[in-house]
Amino acid sequence: MEQTPQDQPTAEQLAQRSAEFINGIIGLLPKPFHAKAAMILGSGLGSVTEQAEILAEISYRDIPGFPETGVAGHSGSMFLTLMNGHPMIILNGRIHYYEQADAGAMAPVIATLKALGIETLIITNAAGSLLNAAPGSVMMIKDYINFTGQSPLFGVTDNRRFVSMSKAYDSQYRYHLRQIAEKNDIHLAQGVYAWMAGPQFETPAEIRAIRLMGADAVGMSTVPETILARYHGIKVAALSIITNYGAGMDDVRLSHEQTLNYAPKAAAKVHILISGFLDHLYADG
Ligand code: HPA
Repeated sequence: MEQTPQDQPTAEQLAQRSAEFINGIIGLLPKPFHAKAAMILGSGLGSVTEQAEILAEISYRDIPGFPETGVAGHSGSMFLTLMNGHPMIILNGRIHYYEQADAGAMAPVIATLKALGIETLIITNAAGSLLNAAPGSVMMIKDYINFTGQSPLFGVTDNRRFVSMSKAYDSQYRYHLRQIAEKNDIHLAQGVYAWMAGPQFETPAEIRAIRLMGADAVGMSTVPETILARYHGIKVAALSIITNYGAGMDDVRLSHEQTLNYAPKAAAKVHILISGFLDHLYADG
């Protein structure tokens, strides 16, 4: 096997090892499990897992090469599930840039999904609203602005790092999600997500600035995973659960507790949207 100059395994080799470990567990399931899709759950959305049939839960701690998460509301487990009868890998817990000042913290996770054969990544997050989406509503992300100056691809040396971001979120997926929302009477806003480093919330001046610059929602995640997925050729759909208005837009004091209180209110809607989405995905063969 090819080794790096220091005889360290490459990121691909590490991901292969993680995938082999997970495939070992998949091999123990009573029925074949061929997941095309994976989903990252945002803060407070853990209950989405309860609506799926859980076949196995694997703690990140037990997966070789996986990072551990330390944020309340993110348990750090991979669930092998059937959602609406369709195979789906649910990642409950992500590592944020602000935890280790490392935008590439999720790189081993996304590389492992690729090694497992995942073609579609659905990313969810909790976000502040900058315009008309009210707390408790869901916004589909159509594009992002990276306000951190960071990239999970810093240090990658191959030319694939120059990945096009002109269609970060798959337009076909957005079309399907809009249709499913309409059919189920779910109001689905669409907008641009601004990635801020955190962990502090924004100042009112920052919120005014990023509104002017074209953002509709603001949060501290999702963009690194989107970049990593696109680097690996995985298609992405992303949903923001609106948990509050941006700082200074109303009188509510922002806190992580508020995020954890509001996010579950949207969990049922997320479940309906994703279930319908998987119907399309698996119907397309
Ligand atoms: N700002 C940043 N991240 C967030 C917010 C917010 O207002 N709400 C939930 N996550």
